[in-house]
This record gives sequence, structure tokens and C-alpha cells, in this order.
Amino acid sequence: MSKEKLIIFDTTLRDGEQSPGASMTKEEKLRIAKALEKMRVDVIEAGYPAASDGDFDSVQSIARTVTESTICGLARVVDHDIDRAGAAIKPAKRGRIHTFVATSPIHMKVKLGMSPDEVVEAAVHAVKRARRYTDDVEFSPEDAGRSEIDFLCRIIEAVIDAGATTVNIPDTVGYNLPHQYAETIRSLIERVPNSDKAIFSTHCHNDLGMAVANSLAAVLKGARQVECTINGLGERAGNAALEEIVMAVRTRQDMFPCDTGIDATQIIATSRLVSGITGFPIQPNKAIVGANAFAHESGIHQDGVLKSRETYEIMVAQDVGLTSNRIVLGKLSGRSALRARYEELGTKIESDKEFNEVFRRFKTLADKKREIYDEDLQALITEANQETVDESIQLLALKASSEMGETPHAIITLMVDGEEKSGAADGSGPVDAAFKAIESIESSSSELLLYSVTNVTEGTDSLGEVIVRLEKGGRIVNGQGSDTDIVIASAKAYINAMNKLAISSGNVNPQAVNV
Ligand code: KIV
Ligand code: ZN
Repeated sequence: MSKEKLIIFDTTLRDGEQSPGASMTKEEKLRIAKALEKMRVDVIEAGYPAASDGDFDSVQSIARTVTESTICGLARVVDHDIDRAGAAIKPAKRGRIHTFVATSPIHMKVKLGMSPDEVVEAAVHAVKRARRYTDDVEFSPEDAGRSEIDFLCRIIEAVIDAGATTVNIPDTVGYNLPHQYAETIRSLIERVPNSDKAIFSTHCHNDLGMAVANSLAAVLKGARQVECTINGLGERAGNAALEEIVMAVRTRQDMFPCDTGIDATQIIATSRLVSGITGFPIQPNKAIVGANAFAHESGIHQDGVLKSRETYEIMVAQDVGLTSNRIVLGKLSGRSALRARYEELGTKIESDKEFNEVFRRFKTLADKKREIYDEDLQALITEANQETVDESIQLLALKASSEMGETPHAIITLMVDGEEKSGAADGSGPVDAAFKAIESIESSSSELLLYSVTNVTEGTDSLGEVIVRLEKGGRIVNGQGSDTDIVIASAKAYINAMNKLAISSGNVNPQAVNV
């Protein structure tokens, strides 16, 4: 018997971008959207078009480029938002408008200052207006997790009558427990008279660590769309993680009456892409995509796995696109070997120009590091892409000295808007000195919120991947850089963050803006 379809709605580019520091450029969003399309995500929430011309532009270009997934734009229940979303998704082969308004007593009273009747009226009006642009309209009663069930029934019946085809039930503040959230979904499907005319969807936040459990419990009670993000990125503690939802449903087909259409072999590549672009590292013990998720370290486990894989493994690493950490290339490898390996990794390098740049970086790395692993290749791509984003400041040269008993010192040369400039500074360590030298040339007037270094592969010749988070006037950006020399990687990351600060206008949280 064929299973029902479970729709995967990815909101990495909208809710995910609401995480502090996760703002992405248009090019970065496009790259992620293409990866999601390749993964066969059903619906991509590409952004909030009314937020700014930049956001509108991003949603529009994704709508133009991506053809295999439905492209969705978010809108509050106000005409301006709906019209902007309608215009942004217009080029899409399949476009959706997702409109929302808060329905919990506290949100209606304190945030909106609207009566329940006014909220219903605004929701119905918005859905009808959205239907002028597309037949595919989704409605969310924000903070449904703390809303009264009778009021939810009333507003949902009204929006379905008005033309909503998907009804999403957000646990906006991550307050629900699995049995409670599942019961809400069950009871809405049962009580709303026209519930058969819409698909019920989950949207769970992870404040109590239950986003995935809540979503899956609701699927068992009839929800047929799950809203989620890559790596669980999102507001505060994040959203339900796409990779966990997909693999749980797939691994426990004995329990679920439905299945997704996701190509799970794209999970690792997409997870790394999102982590690289946003600068949010993946914790090693993160389910499915963490570095340790498929590592069987303890002797007893290894022994069991060698006798029979099923003793300890419930999933196969290759199913999520994890390749073994083997040596793939070295100094003598040529262009076609490099291109072929990237293809095997599922990374498409669009143009010859881009490939030439990646190849140049590969050769530089191979001069420093004898064995090049898949992880190195992925880091190279991330960095090449970071630098094509904006290069008003470029690192030309760096000399850093550290010696026991001496003050660390760095001398740096940058290209700033086409002009070569040099500076030098002391610091408490070579990285600190390098950052101060950069600031002495071009002051960013920003505050350093985070500095982290991770090794991409094992061994002391590993690439060091550095993330630098800067804040300026309330805007937060993450910069990333990698190099076998961590002082150089740090300087690259710092400069990357400065470049992002210069171009990013910051993101507007639609939920924080009143209707
Ligand atoms: O968490 C939430 O309520 C949202 C809505 C905009 C759907 O993200
Ligand atoms: Zn949300």
C-alpha cells in the first residue's frame, strides 16, 4: 500500500534567518535554496518580502531560479505585506503566500491590541487578498501553542472558508509537550467542520528541546506538513531540525502512515553549506549531522558493529550522504579529479571562473597539506563562496610573531576599496594583534561577540575554520575563514565579517512588527 505524502516545508531562509547573526546575503540564500531544491524539499519559505527591498529581491530571485520546489513568501495580515509577497513569488512555477496573525490571549491583547473578532476579520481579509495572487495560501495562528482551542477552531474554519489550503499550527514559544501538541492537532482536525479542505501543518520551536518530538507526535495524529530548518536553525533555541524529522520518519516507517519525498543523501552537504554560510557550527553530538553521529568509538560498539551492523546502527551513514573520511586528493591531483570529487560530493560548481578559483585554492592548500579530505574540499568551497559575496576589504599580506616573553605583534596589508593599506599592532596573542592591526587600518566600530576555531579534519596540519561574530548598531553578522594557519584563518574571518557588516542591512523579524 502506498503511503501518504508528508510535505517538508523548509524555513531556514526565513525563520532560520531570524537567529541573531544568521542573516544571509541574496547569493547565499540562492545557494541554500538550490541545495534545498536538490534535496527535493517540497516548499521553501524564502523570506519575508515586505521587510526590505533586499528581502524582496532574494525571494524574487529564488522564485525565478528554483523550479522544483514551491516558493513561499511570509506576510503579516496586512495588505502591504500580502501584496509584496504576491509580487515576490510571481515568477515562481509554484508560489505560496504564508500569512499569519497572533491568536493567543496574551499576544492579541498585549502585542496586537486587537479583539478576537478583529483578529478573525484581519485573517480572513488577508487570506482572501492572498488568493488574488496564488491558489496556494497558508495561514498560521501565531502562538497557537498557547491559544484557546475554541478560538483556534473558529479562526481556522473561517480562513479555510476564505481559501486557505494549508493551516499551520505554530508552537511559537516552544511551550508544548508532545502529547499536548499532538492532541491540539487531532482535535482541530476533528472539530473544524471544513478541516478536510486543508492540510494541517506543524511549526515547533525548540525552547524545551521538544520541537522534533512535538512535530512527529502531531504527524501521528494527522498533520501532513512539517515546517523545519536545516540543523534546527531558528529563533532562540531554533526550529525542528529537518534532518531529524526526515530520518525519524524514514527509519521508523513501521510507525508512520506517511513518508517524505526527500533525497536524504543531500543532508550532510546541505547541513554543512548552511553551517558554513551562517557561521553556526554543528555540535559534534548533534543527531544525524554531528561529526560523531555515526562514529562508533567505544570498543564494545565497534566489536558489535563489525559482527553485524544492526547491533548498534539504526541508520547507514551513506544514506545521509556521509562519505568516509578518506584521503581523496593530493598535490598531484588535477582539475578533472577535483571536479569529479566535487560532483560525487553533490557540490555543483556553476561556472569555469568559480572552478578556477576553487582549483587555485586547492593547489595552495595541497602545497601546505599532503592529504586532502572531503571536509577540506567543503571548507574550500565555503570560503571561495564567502569571498565572492563581497570583497571591499581583502587580505593581501599578514605577518604575525609570537615568542615566549615577547609581546605578540602583527603587520597586515589590506586592499580597501582598491587601495593598498598597511597597519601594525601588538596584542595579547597573535590573533588579537592581527585583529587590532586590521582595525588600525579600517575601523569597523563593531563589537566582537564570538570567536571560535575548529579543526576541519584530524591532525595538526588540519585546516582551522574560524568564525567571528561582530555586532554594530544592533546588526549581527558572522564571518568565516579557513586556513592551515589559524592566525590567517582568523584574519580572513574577521575581514569577512567586516565585509558583511558593510553590506547587510540586518533582518526584520516579522513577528516583532505589529500589524
Ligand atoms: O513561530 C512562529 O509562530 C512563526 C510564524 C510566523 C509561523 O514563525
Ligand atoms: Zn517560527
